[in-house]
Amino acid sequence: MAIKIHIDTDILEKIGKFELPPTLGFGEVSGPIMASAEFKNGEWSDLSIIPFGPISLYPTAKVFHYAQEIFEGLKAYNYNDNGPLLFRTNENYKRFVRSSERLAMPPIPQELFEKAIESVVSYSYPIMPKRAGESLYLRPLLIATDNIMSVRPSLEYRFFVLTSPSGDYFSSATIGVLIEREQSRAFPGGIGFAKTGGNYAASLMAYKKAKELGLSQTLWLDALEHKYIEELSGMNFFAIINGELHTPELNDTILEGVTRDSLLKLANHNGIKVVERKMAIDDLLRDIKNNHCTEAFACGTAAVVTPLTFLQDANGDRYEFQNQNAPIGMMLKSKLLDIQEGRSSDPFGWTRKVQGASLQ
Ligand SMILES: Cc1ncc(COP(=O)(O)O)c(C=O)c1O
Repeated sequence: MAIKIHIDTDILEKIGKFELPPTLGFGEVSGPIMASAEFKNGEWSDLSIIPFGPISLYPTAKVFHYAQEIFEGLKAYNYNDNGPLLFRTNENYKRFVRSSERLAMPPIPQELFEKAIESVVSYSYPIMPKRAGESLYLRPLLIATDNIMSVRPSLEYRFFVLTSPSGDYFSSATIGVLIEREQSRAFPGGIGFAKTGGNYAASLMAYKKAKELGLSQTLWLDALEHKYIEELSGMNFFAIINGELHTPELNDTILEGVTRDSLLKLANHNGIKVVERKMAIDDLLRDIKNNHCTEAFACGTAAVVTPLTFLQDANGDRYEFQNQNAPIGMMLKSKLLDIQEGRSSDPFGWTRKVQGASLQ
């Protein structure tokens, strides 16, 4: 079934009037347009491209009470006018569907998801940042909107794709990470593998605690034993141990990152041994102390690859990485960005150019 798209008459004017700020942080500026569709009476509506702005919902909408919502995060690239290039949107779609199933939400048809992304990127082409490391961040979002206050899956939903011209996620070069040994972000049988607001809400108190200690991030451990490394609040975790690339194996408490998977494939392709396993935190701390573990980095769409400077316990014990600029992580980062920004060939077939964008 072909998706019908309604384009609001103000769209070109909104794009024409938008001024890209001279410097870009992450997610600070919203783009002037968004995609929107509704699920009602068991069916999806047509897609609309409308101005970005406030939406009207009843305070009883289920999203506000029972957190029935999911989202995604991906980027469109236009480095040096090479784009607009999209990267592995199929993986984001599959994760969106996994998240929607876990939250008892209706799966969105792939064509609607992809058309919404392509349309906002296509219209946003004239305002896409073009410097290396910059992109148009895209935020697909599905929220439960019916206004019946009982606890049960909503009958109505709204889908959006929001945009944000963005640059670096971290402004500081020093990334200290607090090992969270008390609280948990996710637990077996829960919603940790889904990209849904509740997981992030669960991480915010730990974020405050880390900030109070002058640190940037939280390293989450498994909820049952507080023994095994899982991930950071918005990124997956990697360590180089004896020259090999180690990362926690996936389970239902870890978000399966598209960047994680891409780095594993790039590492394999470049002859680096990859090990996915249960990683005990105390073994890692010992490996850092005796220099078997020389570097660690976090990865995700927003942060790309970010070297970690040290891990720290709440009592102040600090474990500094020997190679704080993470040379292996940075090598993988540049290979990934070369593909994403269209500077190198793409042996994996990960990128695609959005059609028709130059006509907008
Ligand atoms: C909890 C969590 N883990 C990992 C990731 C990395 O996922 P991806 O590489 O698909 O952005 C993210 C970011 O989306 C995240 O929020």
